[in-house]
Amino acid sequence: MKTCIIYHSYSGVTRRIAEKIRDACGGDLIEVTPKDQYSTLTAYSLGCIRARKEACDPITPDTIDVSSYDLIVIGTPVWAWKATPAINGAIAALKGCDGKSAVIFATCGSSAKDTLPIMKSALGKKGVRVMGEVVLNKSEISSNEKINDLITSVRGVT
Ligand SMILES: Cc1cc2nc3c(=O)[nH]c(=O)nc-3n(C[C@H](O)[C@H](O)[C@H](O)COP(=O)(O)O)c2cc1C
Repeated sequence: MKTCIIYHSYSGVTRRIAEKIRDACGGDLIEVTPKDQYSTLTAYSLGCIRARKEACDPITPDTIDVSSYDLIVIGTPVWAWKATPAINGAIAALKGCDGKSAVIFATCGSSAKDTLPIMKSALGKKGVRVMGEVVLNKSEISSNEKINDLITSVRGVT
């Protein structure tokens, strides 16, 4: 069972969770970054406006071919209670994903609200079935309980 862990991380939290999944379950890490990087000012202004519109940022890499993977794990920070434009771009950039399974997660300060439903819907349109969903808020990021839930969810599919 081959797993890829695709994530966007503006300030490092989601990256650290992605690395913990990789350390516990194996798999390849694929970090996506917006081609036009956000500053603190533009993340909270333009970035949040684009997140609210559920817009897709052009990202690096341009395409993410997952045809050689059995499981796709996707993680995003929450911006304006939604998925980041970069992770929307990552889902749009998926190739070879029809029929695959996914586990999705979000890290946030307090509430992820619309984030996982947005990702689930976008993945569903690409033929990807979401088998597990986990949200980690600020206090849960530093405790092991939710991280273990996420790892258990990934192991449950693999
Ligand atoms: C531009 C911006 C918007 C954010 N909006 C929200 C939000 O709507 N709700 C929330 O709970 N946290 C929000 N946060 C906090 C982040 O989701 C949280 O700190 C996350 O874990 C950061 O992940 P990262 O370090 O991988 O970027 C926001 C952070 C940024 C930078």
